[in-house]
Amino acid sequence: MFLQRRFQHNHAVALGFVAMSSLAAAGPCDIYAAGNTPCVAAHSTTRALYSAYSGPLYQVQRGSDDTTTDITPLSAGGVANAAAQDSFCNSTTCLITIVYDQSGRGNHLTQAPPGGFSGPESDGYDNLAGAVGAPVTLNGQKAYGVFVSPGTGYRNNQASGTATGDEAEGLYAVLDGTHYNGNCCFDYGNAETSSRDTGDGHMEAIYFGDNTDWGSGSGTGPWVMADLENGLFSGLSAGNNADDPSISYRFVSAFVKGEPDQWSIRGSNAVSGSLSTFYNGTRPSGYNPMKKEGAIILGIGGDNSNGAQGTFYEGVMTSGYPSDATENSVQANIVAAKYAIAPLISGPTLTVGSSVSLRATTAGYTTRYIIHNGSSVVTQVVSSSSSSALQQQASWTVRTGLGNSGCFSFESSDTLGSYLRHYNFQLYLEADDGTKQFHEDATFCPEVGLSGQGSSLRSWNYPTRYIRHYDNVLYAASNGGVQTFDATASFVDDVSWAISAGFA
Ligand SMILES: *[C@@H]1O[C@H](CO)[C@@H](O)[C@H](O)[C@H]1NC(C)=O
Ligand SMILES: *[C@@H]1O[C@H](CO)[C@@H](O)[C@H](O)[C@H]1NC(C)=O
Ligand SMILES: *[C@@H]1O[C@H](CO)[C@@H](O)[C@H](O)[C@H]1NC(C)=O
Repeated sequence: MFLQRRFQHNHAVALGFVAMSSLAAAGPCDIYAAGNTPCVAAHSTTRALYSAYSGPLYQVQRGSDDTTTDITPLSAGGVANAAAQDSFCNSTTCLITIVYDQSGRGNHLTQAPPGGFSGPESDGYDNLAGAVGAPVTLNGQKAYGVFVSPGTGYRNNQASGTATGDEAEGLYAVLDGTHYNGNCCFDYGNAETSSRDTGDGHMEAIYFGDNTDWGSGSGTGPWVMADLENGLFSGLSAGNNADDPSISYRFVSAFVKGEPDQWSIRGSNAVSGSLSTFYNGTRPSGYNPMKKEGAIILGIGGDNSNGAQGTFYEGVMTSGYPSDATENSVQANIVAAKYAIAPLISGPTLTVGSSVSLRATTAGYTTRYIIHNGSSVVTQVVSSSSSSALQQQASWTVRTGLGNSGCFSFESSDTLGSYLRHYNFQLYLEADDGTKQFHEDATFCPEVGLSGQGSSLRSWNYPTRYIRHYDNVLYAASNGGVQTFDATASFVDDVSWAISAGFA
């Protein structure tokens, strides 16, 4: 049925022919170009989006010396060279500083500046994403996506060639359907050049999440919607569109396109199947004509609202309204890229159900262990001759990660049902309240210790942050962040823990 529909129109016949021969190894942007709707922005940290592209995909900056390096595809049209990142970032932290535009227009994405809302950095900029939060494989080759925590955002307010006013455009993005929240707004696409809300119709971006302040779909979300400014739209109004389904595949492909008084939302599992159409019709009242401004955002709203979270692997913006057949071919191309999950952890393994104790490795502190004292989480000198109460306070049962089964949670040995979690980036022992927020805040991903000793425990939902002791108090700290406990001095030592069998 997919092929039949594609061959019904002359234009689609041409595309179908090209797609099966010379574009056999085409990238999504080759397919859009063949459909006369070329990419004017093409962003991906995982792969080249043109068969001939071999330039930089993204830039990382490491915490050890603040130097940067560009990550390129392994070969033209290929998957990112994740090994180059792993080597450059070995024994330190890395941030994604630039997501390069592959279209040749220089529409790169960099740290989003303050706008209607200010970011958490001291200068009001948003945070940058950690480089290791979203490991995947494409056709078996390792790559990293852009893991956007609340407060993180990228932007380009001087883009060239993107749609402005009521001009037509197409957008797609490949996202993690299990990483989302209800805050405004995990977006990718067209936004205001001023980083401020300039009114209805000044945006046209893909949104993913379960926000219900404006539009919604069937079920409880998350949904693919469009951020058209002053509203997330699932259809003809900023209300409910039952045809827009909850969609939470691990990998989601999301498509939005718009032209004068016509737009659509389509989506699918990104690893199998074809696109379904969630909305295809006229513009909402007040949004015809559109007043697009042509800036590009990733992970934030048009006014820099930055409370949302999500993961971005690849996406583009086109010039012109892509045909349904072109979008169907792009979906087939995404499926053929074979996205799959990769381990979130490295280093010594932890056994679910076992009891562990975690000892500091920083010189001068090596007799101190992570303990809870009521709900406080601190380090304390503990040994086999300590009281059995203190040994219990220093012992943790390893559990499958409450927020992601690829990582772990740490349940107190003497306070069953209570787990280590971060809140305002300090660690506490708190009872599991069953919320998605608690579960995510209580999930940590061990990796080879950043100092070379033991293991470092990365926060799953803030992968720039690691469990750190600072003045003997425990934090989820980022290397060189704005808080005193983020200090770079002795960071890699303070986040490296010797994990042994629990005292109790
Ligand atoms: C990181 O460095 C360690 C120690 O030099 C080495 O054993 C390891 O293979 C390196 N890992 C990567 C990914 O380069
Ligand atoms: C969307 O609507 C347009 C205009 O009515 C129509 O030509 C097109 O076939 C529709 N596409 C889908 C996928 O329903
Ligand atoms: C727990 O906190 C109390 C109050 O600050 C303190 O007196 C006590 O020594 C602490 N216990 C441990 C084991 O650190």
